[in-house]
Amino acid sequence: MALLFVPRETEPGETRVAATPETVKGYVKLGLSVAVAPSAGEAAGFRDQDYRDAGATSEDALERADLVLAVRTPAVEQIRRMKAGALLASGLIPNLQLEAVKALARQRVTAFGLELVPRITRAQSMDVLSSQATCAGYQAVLLAAAALPSFFPMLMTAAGTIKPARAFIIGAGVAGLQAISTAKRLGATVEANDVRPAVKEQVESCGARFVDTGTPPDAQTSGGYAKEQSDEYLRKQREILGQHIAQADVLITTALIPGRPAPRIVSDEMVARMRPGSVIVDLAAANGGNVEGTQPGQTVVRHGVRIIGETNLPAMVATDASRMWARNVYEFLKPFLKEAAFQPKWEDEVLAASCVTRDGEVVHTGAKAALESAPEKR
Ligand code: NAI
Repeated sequence: MALLFVPRETEPGETRVAATPETVKGYVKLGLSVAVAPSAGEAAGFRDQDYRDAGATSEDALERADLVLAVRTPAVEQIRRMKAGALLASGLIPNLQLEAVKALARQRVTAFGLELVPRITRAQSMDVLSSQATCAGYQAVLLAAAALPSFFPMLMTAAGTIKPARAFIIGAGVAGLQAISTAKRLGATVEANDVRPAVKEQVESCGARFVDTGTPPDAQTSGGYAKEQSDEYLRKQREILGQHIAQADVLITTALIPGRPAPRIVSDEMVARMRPGSVIVDLAAANGGNVEGTQPGQTVVRHGVRIIGETNLPAMVATDASRMWARNVYEFLKPFLKEAAFQPKWEDEVLAASCVTRDGEVVHTGAKAALESAPEKR
C-alpha cells in the first residue's frame, strides 16, 4: 500500500496546502495510506483533526513517502530526504527551478509540474493555472477595493449620490475575466482590453465594455495564448488605453505571454495621468510587471497612485485556493491510482507533458535545454 504525504509548505507567505480533508478521503478510498505533516493545513483553515477524521495520520513522513504532494516545490534539502523512486506532484516550473530539477533527478524522484499540464478539454479539472488565476483575479479586486478611498458601487444617500468606481482590466484571460466579474459584483463600471480577438465577447458577457486596440494579424497561438506584440502595436495600444486609464479609479493588469517577460503596457506617464488615490494591482508583477514602477511583492506610491505588486494572491484566499489546487492534483493522479499504488501510463498526453524528471533523468525538454545552456551552474 503506497504512502502519500503532504508536507507543510515552507516558502515564506505560502499559506496554501496541496490536499484537503476531502481529497484525503478520496485517496484513502483508493486504498492509499495518507500522512499529513502537523499543522500543514492550518493557514488554509484545515485542522490536523480534520485530516485525521478523513483517514490520515498527523506526522512527518517525507523519507518514507511514495507520493508527495506540495504547492511549492520542496527545497533542495527536503528533496534530498525523499526516497528513490518516490513521486512528487507540485507547482514545479522547471526553467526557473533548475537546482530543484537537478536534485530531483539525482535523488531519482519522478517529478510532475502541475503548471505544465496541457490545457486540453480532458484536463480542465487538473488545471492549476486556471484555478489559481481565478483566485488571483478575485483577490486583486478585493485588494483594490480595500485600498481605494472611494466606494465601488453607486450609492444614493441622503448625503448625496456617490458615483460608481471605474475599473479598467488589461488582459482578459482567466484572471482578468474573474476580476471583471468581481468588480461588477461590487458595483463598479468596468472596461477591459486584450490583444486576443476571441476575448471581446467573453468580456461583454461578464458585463464589461471592451476597449478595442485593434487585432494584430498574429494575436494568438494555436493553443489560444497571446503572442508577443511589436513595439508598434504596444505604442498604439498605449495611446488608446492612456485615455481610459486616466479615467479609471482602479486598474488591474494581468497581461502575460507564456515563457516571455510580461509586456510593458502602462508607462509612468500614464500612471501620472491617473487621479491621486487611484489604485493599480499588477498581477504580472512576478514576471516583470505590466506597469512601469511595479515592485514585486511590494506596494509603492507613484504620483499619488498606489501600485500593488503582490506576487502570491491565491495565498490570500488560501482555503478556496487550496480546495481548488487539491482537487486539481487529485484529478491528475486519480486515473493512475490502481491497486493502492501509482501505476502510470507514460504514453498518456497529460503525464508526458507534465513529467520533469524520471528514473534519474531530466525528461522535460525545456529544462534539458536550460541545463545545457547553463552548464557552469551544474
Ligand atoms: P495568460 O495568463 O497567459 O495571459 C493573460 C491575458 O493577457 C491573456 O488573455 C492574454 O491574451 C493577455 N495579453 C497578453 N499580452 C497582452 C497585451 N499586450 N495586451 C493586452 N492583453 C494581453 O492567459 P490565461 O488566462 O492563462 O489563458 C489564456 C487563454 O488560454 C484562455 O483565454 C483560453 O483561450 C486558454 N485556456 C484554455 C483552457 C482549456 O481549454 N482547458 C483553460 C484555460 C485557458
